[in-house]
Amino acid sequence: MASGEGIALVELDEEGVDRAFRADVLDGLRQKQKAIPARWLYDDAGSELFEDITRIPAYYPTRAETEILTERGEEFAAEIGAGRTVVEFGSGSSVKTPLLLRAIDPAAYVPLDIAGDFLREAADALSAKFPGLPVHPVEADFMREVDLPDAVSAQPKLGFFPGSTIGNLVPRSAVDLLRSMRKTLQADYGVQPMLLVGMDLVKDRDMLIAAYDDAGGVTAEFNRNLARRINRELGGTIPVDDLRHLARWNDKYARVEMHLEAQRDIRFEVSGQSFAMARGETIHTENSHKFTRRSSYLLLEASGWSPVKRWRDSKKRFSLILAEATDPRNAP
Ligand code: AVJ
Repeated sequence: MASGEGIALVELDEEGVDRAFRADVLDGLRQKQKAIPARWLYDDAGSELFEDITRIPAYYPTRAETEILTERGEEFAAEIGAGRTVVEFGSGSSVKTPLLLRAIDPAAYVPLDIAGDFLREAADALSAKFPGLPVHPVEADFMREVDLPDAVSAQPKLGFFPGSTIGNLVPRSAVDLLRSMRKTLQADYGVQPMLLVGMDLVKDRDMLIAAYDDAGGVTAEFNRNLARRINRELGGTIPVDDLRHLARWNDKYARVEMHLEAQRDIRFEVSGQSFAMARGETIHTENSHKFTRRSSYLLLEASGWSPVKRWRDSKKRFSLILAEATDPRNAP
């Protein structure tokens, strides 16, 4: 049975508002450095704006990763082998998934997503492209261990987590996620699970900032959409036009940060609570960690995954890493 059945994935309060959203926003706005978890950027409007971002030429990760998936199919097939069930964490990548499935001849495809509508749409589109392939969508929060459908329980798994979405998480959360992915993919017996994960690379600062502060202002709209969502869903009065999109490189943590910066002193309310921001003060809305070979391998090893092979695009901007669940017997 698919996990999540009978369990509410989203808990609504008396006003029909996602409890976790309200709590995260109110807690986040009370902090000295205001900060709201990046997952709340992705409501319907935010998800569409992100899709627009992936089409911006300056946003190189999408094209770099697609290039690897297009050009290295034979190598994926050789390393991964046929007959695995591909479990995709987050089912948004309608372009990338077929490239992988075509290359490796999988036994089945299991898209996991917390957003049911999106999930079924993606599953239907995929089924139409691969008529013989069993597709088992599962609506679940993949930040926790997920029970996969019985139909695939005995098959060896390949987890697929493209897009450098792992980079949204600070290292200790990334380790938690990679460990729970391992539990989700682990079979009781037989072949160790594998994971194919996209990780964006540390690179020239200007190229990074151009990708996260595009000239057309799409990323700025994506960022400001969070403030609009707060106003709409939480009775907010944030003066959205007084917030400027800011993309900055944090060298200590090797990440691009998105912030919303107050252009003047402002006061506003959210859920009946009052907040103030001085001019220049920011709300931190997203991290996008960038990796070196060493930092990506360290993150994987710390999470029970041993790197098997690493691919980069021709301009060395982005990496896809294939890892295998570490056999505990490898430890001395
Ligand atoms: C969806 C998290 C991979 O960090 O590059 C793009 C999100 N934010 N532009 C990224 C994002 C601003 C994106 N991820």
